[in-house]
Amino acid sequence: MKVSVKVPATSANLGPGFDCLGLALPVYNEITVEETIMPGSGIEINVLDEQENLNVLSVPKDENNIVYKAIQLLYNFVGQNVSDIKITIKTEIPIARGMGSSASVIVGGLLAANELLGHPADEAVLLSIASAVEGHPDNVTPALVGGFCISSLEDDGSVVYSKIEWPQDWKLTLLIPDYELDTRIARSVLPESVSMQDASFNIRKCAMMIDAIHKNDGDLMKKSLSDKIHQPYRKELIKGFSELSELLKNKDDILGCVISGAGPTILIISQNKGFEKVENEVRQVFEDLKIKCEIRTYNIENQGAIVL
Ligand code: HSE
Repeated sequence: MKVSVKVPATSANLGPGFDCLGLALPVYNEITVEETIMPGSGIEINVLDEQENLNVLSVPKDENNIVYKAIQLLYNFVGQNVSDIKITIKTEIPIARGMGSSASVIVGGLLAANELLGHPADEAVLLSIASAVEGHPDNVTPALVGGFCISSLEDDGSVVYSKIEWPQDWKLTLLIPDYELDTRIARSVLPESVSMQDASFNIRKCAMMIDAIHKNDGDLMKKSLSDKIHQPYRKELIKGFSELSELLKNKDDILGCVISGAGPTILIISQNKGFEKVENEVRQVFEDLKIKCEIRTYNIENQGAIVL
């Protein structure tokens, strides 16, 4: 028996919401989990690109694979062990770009395995296992439930989340460069602790941002999308981020420019075709820096993961 699941990409943090805010994007990975009939066949993990060619990525193909780890935790939850299993991942979400590719495969593997096992785990269990494997809940939550989510990984390992309606007119433009950035590296440049002043700055920006979203208030959103606890430390790793932040800060209908997740993709939030008005200037920034960059504009994805 095999089950396939489709899971959206995500963009986490959105400026001030480090490790707690995230939203889903309409780009998908498809994850298929199959219990193999041949006993002793072990683990088989295949990663395919969009043309369904085998992708020779440096993704672990054994017990160290994150999808396998997540599935193993789910099996443990029901008192079983994974023995012979085939996992196939068809990737459309760019890898190691800050668009939630790892969250999508973790969620996809869990959801598919949960189907195979006859639904022993509810949403809370799936989120808790997914966050334990990913390390934070801000990508896995919208990957599972779609939309814009505030999520909190509690001390007991459970996840509390709230899904909030995103203003329809607020567009999400992803500037996806042609280089990768490992999240572990992007996290390694962060300090162990931050000052009370910087923590207070982020708390008020985050709170303001949620109110801006509720009220569909672009001006308030623009005042909210800044951060002092991760972007200042990461900006040297994200080519073009400082230049773009400067370029876009006073542009009409550009609500903000933030690092997407741990980067290197940059997310621009705009309203009223705001991005179209600055697109040429944005392209010029990347041309001047001699960086190849793909630009994609999306509406939010509200459905989340689905079993096919
Ligand atoms: N919140 C995470 C980070 C997202 O910024 O490191 C990346 O997975």
